Parts: sequence; C-alpha cells; structure tokens
Amino acid sequence: MDIVRPRGTNDFLPKDTVKWHYLETVLRKLCEEFGYGEIRTPLFEDTNLFQRGVGDTTDIVQKEMYTFTDQGDRSLTLRPEGTASVVRAYVEDKLYGEAQPVKVYYMGPMFRYERPQAGRYRQFHQFGVECFGSNHPAADGEIIALAWEFYRRLGLKGLEVSINSVGCPKCRPKYRQLLQDYFRPHLDKMCKSCQERFEKNPLRILDCKNPECKELAKDAPNSTDCLCEECQEHFQSVCAYLTAADIPYKIDHRLVRGLDYYTKTAFEILVDTIGAQSAICGGGRYDGLVAQLGGPETPGVGFAAGLERVLVALDQQGVEIPASSHTQVYLASLGSSADLKAFQLLQELRKTGIIAEKDLLGRSLKAQMKYADKLQADYVLLLGEEELAQNICMVRQMGKSEQAPVDLDNIVLFLKEQLK
Ligand code: HAM
Repeated sequence: MDIVRPRGTNDFLPKDTVKWHYLETVLRKLCEEFGYGEIRTPLFEDTNLFQRGVGDTTDIVQKEMYTFTDQGDRSLTLRPEGTASVVRAYVEDKLYGEAQPVKVYYMGPMFRYERPQAGRYRQFHQFGVECFGSNHPAADGEIIALAWEFYRRLGLKGLEVSINSVGCPKCRPKYRQLLQDYFRPHLDKMCKSCQERFEKNPLRILDCKNPECKELAKDAPNSTDCLCEECQEHFQSVCAYLTAADIPYKIDHRLVRGLDYYTKTAFEILVDTIGAQSAICGGGRYDGLVAQLGGPETPGVGFAAGLERVLVALDQQGVEIPASSHTQVYLASLGSSADLKAFQLLQELRKTGIIAEKDLLGRSLKAQMKYADKLQADYVLLLGEEELAQNICMVRQMGKSEQAPVDLDNIVLFLKEQLK
C-alpha cells in the first residue's frame, strides 16, 4: 500500500489497546480517589491560545505546532499540550465562580512536530491534572503525590522526582540578570538558539542539549539562590510535603522546563530504564496563567504524563499488565438450522453477560473447533442437526476430551452456573 500513517504517529491494535484501557482504568480510579473530575476540551484551539499561554519563545510555539487555517479563515492549532486549553475552559466556563480548588484531569492525544524517535512522537497521549485556586504548597505536594501513586500502582521501579523552583515575577528578574551576567562572556561559544535565548529567555539556556552550552550551564547560578522569601518558603514547604509522603526527590538546579508559564515549583519524574526520553511526567505551578488568559488572578498547579513512555517503561521492566477478558463460550454448529439456533443462543448468552462467539465464516466443524482452541474458550458447545432434533447440544470443557449433552432449554442457566 502506498499510503502509510503520518510520521511520528502510531496505530494501536486491539492487543495494544487492552494496555491503554488498563492505564485508563487505573487513572480514573486514582483521580476519583484524589477528588479530580474529568474535563474534555477540543483537540484544536485558536492558535493565539498557545502563543499566549505556552509562550512565544518556546520550542513548542516556534517550531512544533500543527497550525492550519480553516475554511472560515481562522488560524487553528492542534493542541500541543493540555494546560492552556484547560485554563481557557476555566476562564470561559467561569469555573473560578465555583468552590475552590477546582481539580480536573484529562487524557488524550497531543500534537507536536518533533523529530520522532523512541518515546517521542508527533501524536502522543498525555494524562494530565490541574488544580486551580490554591497557592498553598500542599497543592503542589498533592499533585506530585498523585503522579507518584500512579506509577507505584502500576509497579514501575527506578523512578526519581526532580524538583526545582523557578521563582516568581518578583524574584525572577534578579535571576535573569545573574544568568545574563554569567553567560555574557561565553556568548560566542554558545549555539545560535542560546544566543537568542540569552536576550529573550536566558533560563531556557539551562535546558539546551548542545554539549558546549550544557557544559557552560553546569556552573551557572542556581535559581534557588535568588528566590524571594515567599518562593523560598514555598519551595522548602513543598519538599517537606514530599518527605512527609515518603516520596524521594532530588533538587535539580538545571530543571527549568520547556514552557513559559511556570512559577515557583517545576518538577519532572524520570525513569532510569527508558534511555534518552526518560521524563515520564512533567509539571509545576503556573500562578500567572489564568490572569494572563483573561481570567481573575488565580494560582494553578499541575502536571502531565506521557502515556506512551509509561507503556515503554512497563514493557522494559517486564511489568505484567492484567489480561483482558477472553471468550468463555464458543458455539460450533453444523447445518443451516443448527447455525440459526446457535445464532439465537449466542444472543441469549450475551444478554446474560457471558462472553460468547460463534463462527462467522461458514467454516467446517473441524475449523471451528480449531478456532475455539485458538480463542482458548472455556466451553465449546456443539450443535448439529441431530442434536437440534433432540433439543440438546454437546458441551465440552476446555482441555477435556469428553463431552456431555445438555438440554437446550437449560443451557444458558447451566453455563451461568459453570462460569460463576
Ligand atoms: P511537557 O513536559 O511538555 O509538559 O509534557 C509532559 C510529558 O508529556 C512529558 O514528560 C513526556 O512524558 C510527554 N511528552 C511530551 N512530548 C512528547 C512527545 N513528543 N512524545 C511522547 N511523549 C511526550 C506539558 O505538556 C505541561 N502541559 C504539563 C503541565 C500540566 N504543567 C502543568 N500542568
């Protein structure tokens, strides 16, 4: 076939989607327990939302957005992340008028035009949570605890929380200045992007992957040395909550995150087994974003986890995902009247919740038996014209060679009893 799926996207086949269903089930239960309700926002939004929300100088906005003009001449963008959309909904749907904090979660596809590699895709799936209306460090603590508990329930090992504080509009100018003073004498050795970042957003230099910039960044000043009293206290308090919840963490002074909206807390959770794309989750506080997008001054904190990366980590660590349900009863029939009866019986069984299958290809009895074997059906019912005439069917249990007749009028009850 000459048409293939777009680069950086995946097909998830039924054998894969059972894993996704498992993750989704664990996540929904977790969010219910933590008091987060689901929010669903559009997959595309006004392009301005991301330009203003995520930030003009970020890689996401500068290089990675799927932006198009629709037939009404509007510029729309496939969402590259979820926070900006959720903040838009918080403002547009006046959630600030409800009892605070407002705690929501979402899961679904995000789109970024990145260079695809293992664990990095152009369409990927995030699970994210956002908590609005609390500037208390316990909210940061709860968010991180939720992420941590998700991975703990899945049975993932080798995780580490990396945390930093990027300050607030009060103390950040001082840090910015210190960074510029530090990098200025080395500007000519730095990559082109960092030379631009130097003016627009020197914090982002700390995130550069270029080896020379990385080497220079090692000795750059730390943001935590420039924090105002409020940010300093907040940071210490978040760390104390993590300790109280028995969550191990490491302070990473180079962690600045690739989105512009963060204030105070920034964090990531890394897993040591999946190589380069080791961040399975990232987030932080964004106290200015709601106001910046036209709402009342409202603090917010949240994170998003990349679910493809979680699945890769589970796979690499050999964590078993609970098996999905399998066929309980297979109806094998021979002859057209028996086939009709089998079809009727199939619906009866399904009505009672039994997982049942019958042949849909008009195959021979032998081929049907082989297929039942492949499905690993718990029971096989054999129904030929002769059985039909006696109003019975033959019942065989998986793995056994003997079979016994059961009255067709009693078969549903019989199987329900057996499968209890
Ligand atoms: P982010 O760090 O850009 O943050 O993305 C969060 C997570 O999404 C990453 O840690 C990674 O696991 C996954 N991810 C990102 N890009 C890709 C990709 N191309 N392929 C596969 N997985 C990817 C945000 O998106 C923020 N909205 C998080 C947040 C929520 N902050 C506050 N609230």
